Amino acid sequence: MDVQTILLKLKDWFEDYTSGFYSDEPMVQQNMMLKVEHTRRVCEAILMIGGSLDLSSENLSIAETCALLHDIGRFEQYKRYRTFLDHKSIDHAALGADVIQNLHVLDGIEPEMAEMIVRTVRFHNRAALPENQTSRGFLFLKLLRDADKVDIWRVVTEYYHRSGNQRNRSIELDLPDAPQVSDAVYDALMNKTLVQISDLKTLTDFKLLQMGWVYDLNFPMTFRIVREKKFLESIRDALPTSSSRVQEIYKLVQAHVAENAFQSRIS
Ligand SMILES: [Fe+2]
Repeated sequence: MDVQTILLKLKDWFEDYTSGFYSDEPMVQQNMMLKVEHTRRVCEAILMIGGSLDLSSENLSIAETCALLHDIGRFEQYKRYRTFLDHKSIDHAALGADVIQNLHVLDGIEPEMAEMIVRTVRFHNRAALPENQTSRGFLFLKLLRDADKVDIWRVVTEYYHRSGNQRNRSIELDLPDAPQVSDAVYDALMNKTLVQISDLKTLTDFKLLQMGWVYDLNFPMTFRIVREKKFLESIRDALPTSSSRVQEIYKLVQAHVAENAFQSRIS
């Protein structure tokens, strides 16, 4: 069967599978819907980024399949542990890869391709790109990581600006809402590198970590989406305005986005 046909079937399977986790408990249901909606939006984003790259329609369908399945482990993770925090439960990407294999979700797809999709799901949340992938494998990982970030930015910026601001600990990590920018976070971002989760001490640090994801984007289109959606402005508006560290970091991430948004190729 060709990938396009399989993708249609997989969309039905996804609905079926995820609806099995729906619940009468409002908090549980809200979190399940958060992930269903996130998945839908990551599919949209990956098509937009992939569409800027002249990919074959087969490659676009594989990319969308990776997006559709990338967080499939979230449902079982939440059912078992009632949290989306990997460090307090299980690596949701590895769990997702196991779900796909155990339920034979990709049976019918050419084995090599199925394996590549499973690998993409398994590694999509790693701090850095894993080594030893084929160039095609890298392509899907890069696409997925960019598309995933685009939608996480949407989720968190909507959350920071929601009126009434009911806290949802599944989005926020359990950090104190303090204005300090920790030294390690400041240093990492001023060196244009990613912030380590283990360095986070405040919610301000966490918001800055999210700004710093611009140092882990792969395609000009993704930078253009960041500009157009004003994600960085939106995060900045949720940060303490008087902090000179925040201002310095913001300037640098914006410059990085501007530099990369219109390059034809990023190495
Ligand atoms: Fe995701």
